[in-house]
Amino acid sequence: MSLRRSSLTPTLLYVCCASLVTYSFESNVYAAAPAETEKVQLGDAALTGGIPGKGKLTTDQISKWLQNSKNHRPLQVVLPFGLAAGAKQITIPANNPMTRAKIELGRQLYFDKRLSSDRTVSCADCHHPDEGYARHTQFGVGIKGQKGGRNSPVSYNRILSGAQFWDGRAPSLEAQAVGPIASPIEMGNTHPKAVATIKSIVGYRMQFEKIFTDGVTIGNVGKAIATFERAIVTGPSPYDYYEPLRSMQLALKDDLEDLEALKEDDPDVYDAYMARLKTSKAHPISTSAQRGRELFFSKKVGCTACHVGANLTDEKYHNLGIGMAATEPDVGRSAVTNSPKNRGAFKTPTIRNVALTAPYMHDGSLKTLEEVVEWYAKGGHPNPQLSKDVKKIELTRQDKADLVAFMKACTGAFPKVETARLP
Ligand code: HEC
Ligand code: HEC
Repeated sequence: MSLRRSSLTPTLLYVCCASLVTYSFESNVYAAAPAETEKVQLGDAALTGGIPGKGKLTTDQISKWLQNSKNHRPLQVVLPFGLAAGAKQITIPANNPMTRAKIELGRQLYFDKRLSSDRTVSCADCHHPDEGYARHTQFGVGIKGQKGGRNSPVSYNRILSGAQFWDGRAPSLEAQAVGPIASPIEMGNTHPKAVATIKSIVGYRMQFEKIFTDGVTIGNVGKAIATFERAIVTGPSPYDYYEPLRSMQLALKDDLEDLEALKEDDPDVYDAYMARLKTSKAHPISTSAQRGRELFFSKKVGCTACHVGANLTDEKYHNLGIGMAATEPDVGRSAVTNSPKNRGAFKTPTIRNVALTAPYMHDGSLKTLEEVVEWYAKGGHPNPQLSKDVKKIELTRQDKADLVAFMKACTGAFPKVETARLP
């Protein structure tokens, strides 16, 4: 029995500690640890639920909020179970530590239509919590109903992501966040005008002056919004609860055929198994999704050649042939690198919560997850830069349904977010 126990140790360790993995300021980003930090669980509604109170935010409430030193303490963030396996990937610039006050300021800016030239469009208009922080339109729709040429990607789990946009042209979330404000087809504003608008609102001025040494600047707008986005992480999904059970099933194999014997021989292992079974059953995953999980991770189907790691993306750029049938296709990544070999390559999106964010792909050309699976089954669209990891796959109807079921099982809860209260 001791053999069985030791063969299990690594997986048991993984499970019991995954949710406790924290991001260490000392070792990764900060040269010196800040005097006083607070450890928080990302996804906690207290971080994104707004300044306590109801109705319009008053300067009184803002003033009280800003006076509380707790709201300015750098946060040491813990990711939710599932995503926590990616703790090492956390990207927080040293000059923009997360604090409760900064998350809250970013939240207000994210939902504030006054940042656009005609006060009609906010970030949330294209990345809305009710639509999986994306939008169900093929392309982003900005001021005066103008459409861009790309689908709105998701703005959650950005804390595990470095370069932003489908082609990675923004090096950080901070740099990305100020782009849409000045984009003529998105928010149609200029940075100086947006800054002037924010300065004219007392509640905003109070917050910027307290949180940043240099008050309202466009750079600080980017820092605040990026900090809010880092707090939007997805909670554990049925897939996450199934993984520890599955690894134990693989390790124990035949021993599971006689549970009574296992209970007698090795009660600790038996108890651990029953605990995982119970947790998975409380967040059920269908047998179809379980088969889909095997396909998704298999060599034959190979989705994990790119959709890999805690957020199910390699954060790299690949050509699947999407849009490449056009005479003048969107060249994607090659516009950033100037390298013809990146032509038609786009950043791998996350599979977490993907069931909520149709339509799909950089051009929103595929309407359902079923269509996405068909695209891969036929081997994408032939073109000179097609990824070598995209090729025709023999899949039965059941296999295809199983892959879709698996992706749906990657859906977890979002943090509760206050969408209305603004200064
Ligand atoms: C008019 C719709 C629209 C508005 C408004 C808008 N976005 Fe976007 N957003 C998009 C589209 C479309 C893309 C993809 C563009 C590209 O890749 O070239 C995008 C990309 C992003 C990304 C990159 C995600 C990734 O996976 O790389 C983030 C983050 C983001 N937006 C956040 C914001 C924030 C913050 C705001 C407000 C300041 C905002 N967006 C306003 C449509 C919009
Ligand atoms: C070669 C890397 C690669 C492989 C292999 C791969 N993907 Fe993708 N996936 C991508 C990229 C890159 C995109 C975005 C492509 C684009 O928009 O042009 C994408 C997009 C998607 C999307 C759309 C997500 C969204 O938000 O728009 C889904 C769903 C998806 N893939 C599922 C799968 C499944 C299922 C498999 C296995 C059958 C798979 N992928 C295999 C790289 C890959």
